[in-house]
Amino acid sequence: MSKTQPAAYSPVHILIHWAIAALILFQLVFGESMKDLERALRGDGTPDAVTAFMGNAHIWVGIAVLVLTVLRLVVRARFGVPAPVPASRLQELAARAVHGLLYLLMIVVPLTGLAAWFGGIREAGEIHELGKPLFIILIALHVAGALYHHFALKDRSLMRMISSRA
Ligand code: HEM
Ligand code: HEM
Repeated sequence: MSKTQPAAYSPVHILIHWAIAALILFQLVFGESMKDLERALRGDGTPDAVTAFMGNAHIWVGIAVLVLTVLRLVVRARFGVPAPVPASRLQELAARAVHGLLYLLMIVVPLTGLAAWFGGIREAGEIHELGKPLFIILIALHVAGALYHHFALKDRSLMRMISSRA
């Protein structure tokens, strides 16, 4: 664990936050591609080039999310994160809960995808699909919180996830 609490998020933490956000949005928008690939493989066994490409992209982007999340948790444990911006006790608890649940999904969703695809575990596939609505709800709450801080409370919360100097 870090010994002192930093004044800002490190550039690495910020970079990984936005890289993971972009990759997860890609997965949520194009997730159906895995179902198309499964259907094609179950059908005549030869997916067309787009289906094969998008299916492979889903697997590799998902693995990238998992690796980057582990890296981010290591960076977080090693260098720490700044103290929460002052807010009510309830808001701090809500933010902490949403962040914790997002981290949980960022680990569980790729792992269940891998278990379903490579291990053929059907239950893992069912849990994996649940990740979609859960991610959408949590991201909506998270973004609403970030915008509320920025536009209503007018504090530095959003800016400090954009620049280490904020
Ligand atoms: C953060 C990472 C990931 C996200 C957000 C994600 C998201 C999704 C989404 C939205 C779907 C479509 C679900 C639906 O339409 O109901 C899906 C399906 C699927 N994904 Fe992922 N995925 C991720 C990582 C992975 C990985 C690493 C694999 C490994 C191969 C994988 C394998 C699958 C499979 C096999 C399906 C089809 C599930 C089924 O038909 O039951 N996913 N994923
Ligand atoms: C898939 C999308 C996203 C995921 C999974 C995600 C995840 C997270 C997580 C887990 C944290 C906690 C950081 C830590 O303490 O280690 C965080 C912080 C933050 N995120 Fe996101 N995020 C996403 C998208 C966004 C978007 C679109 C915005 C802006 C509108 C945003 C703004 C922020 C801000 C401002 C913080 C810092 C809060 C603070 O400490 O004051 N995030 N995010």
